[in-house]
Amino acid sequence: MEPYQHVIVGSGLIGGLLGGIIGQSARVSFIGRPIWLGRLAEGITLTDYAGNEAQFRANAAECLEDLPAKIERSVIWLTVKNTALAEMLMRLQPLVAPDCVVVCCQNGLGAAALTRKYLPGIRVLQGIVGCNVVWDESLMQLQKTTEGEFYLEQPEDLAPQLMKVLSVVQHKLLMLSWRQDIEAVAWAKLQLNMANSINAIVNQPVRTMLLDRGCRQVIAALMDELLAVTAARNIRLPMLTRVPARYLPTVLRLPDWLFKRLASAMLHIEPTARSSMWWDLQAGRVTEIDYLNGAVSEQGALSGVTCPINKSVTDLVKSLETSALVAVRPPLDGNTLKFQLHLE
Ligand SMILES: NC(=O)c1ccc[n+]([C@@H]2O[C@H](COP(=O)([O-])OP(=O)(O)OC[C@H]3O[C@@H](n4cnc5c(N)ncnc54)[C@H](OP(=O)(O)O)[C@@H]3O)[C@@H](O)[C@H]2O)c1
Repeated sequence: MEPYQHVIVGSGLIGGLLGGIIGQSARVSFIGRPIWLGRLAEGITLTDYAGNEAQFRANAAECLEDLPAKIERSVIWLTVKNTALAEMLMRLQPLVAPDCVVVCCQNGLGAAALTRKYLPGIRVLQGIVGCNVVWDESLMQLQKTTEGEFYLEQPEDLAPQLMKVLSVVQHKLLMLSWRQDIEAVAWAKLQLNMANSINAIVNQPVRTMLLDRGCRQVIAALMDELLAVTAARNIRLPMLTRVPARYLPTVLRLPDWLFKRLASAMLHIEPTARSSMWWDLQAGRVTEIDYLNGAVSEQGALSGVTCPINKSVTDLVKSLETSALVAVRPPLDGNTLKFQLHLE
């Protein structure tokens, strides 16, 4: 039988990382924008904060701007953002053969369900990237800047042969963790993503934001609401960081001096780093807010849990998305944000 092909659909930061890792041991092709296809064909280095490195150069003939007429016997690693997913699925619908497997790699909630709706009869798995990835143009490096594994859904009926094919993403740069509790992992990752929107709103580097107790208190309040929703739905959150999920809000609320001492690992970040949502706002792009804080308040409403802070933060980000002055807005401090959100 023909071996599976690997196709990255939406090669950007996550597609580049997964594709670069897959390319260490298997053939991989890329669908994406010219800028990313050029980088991949020229050759990039994958790095992590621990000093691991791998080189990767894509075959230029396998870097395509458009989808092929048919995709057969392939693992499709779907790495567009949530905001581009429906359009991409509409285009994939007529050309994906039933023997393909699709791995959805989006943050937040809802991507795998949406994909199953568009591609009925196709095996769809959810993958969750637990780390942060940035691009350094001057070094041509895709840098994994935080710890975090690649969590991949393991349904009970997943054939061992297919597991072997999918294990191509296992690498020293990105550990693969098979999960039967992928919904819980998605919620746990979403809890960590609660800081993204606040970073976008306050318009400060992530490190500066974390050193501002007011900002941390807002993030903790967002997490409290998320934890109330998962508790109402009897979802047990797995531990994705050194601190168990339910204690994270407490750690964030600590006074600055104690936070700096106990949570120093959280502050080991590049002083200029910003969240991807901040970058999206600055570039005038629609953000993934609906799939992050928006999804928390939506799922809360379905479970009888009100999430007013997540709702207000969603509305705030949406108003920034349509503001002509977004790129020139001044930074905001945590206490001002607390006041705006009526948080004491
Ligand atoms: N980056 C991280 O650290 C990280 C970590 C964990 C999870 N995630 C999640 O992973 C997902 C992907 O994020 P990312 O950071 O990799 O995004 P990204 O860098 O923007 O990559 C997605 C790429 O897909 C392209 N694309 C969109 N529609 C396309 C189309 N129709 N045809 C061809 N290319 C298309 C985008 O181009 P345009 O920009 O032109 O649309 C972009 O280059 C998101 O859900 C994100 O939340 C990201």
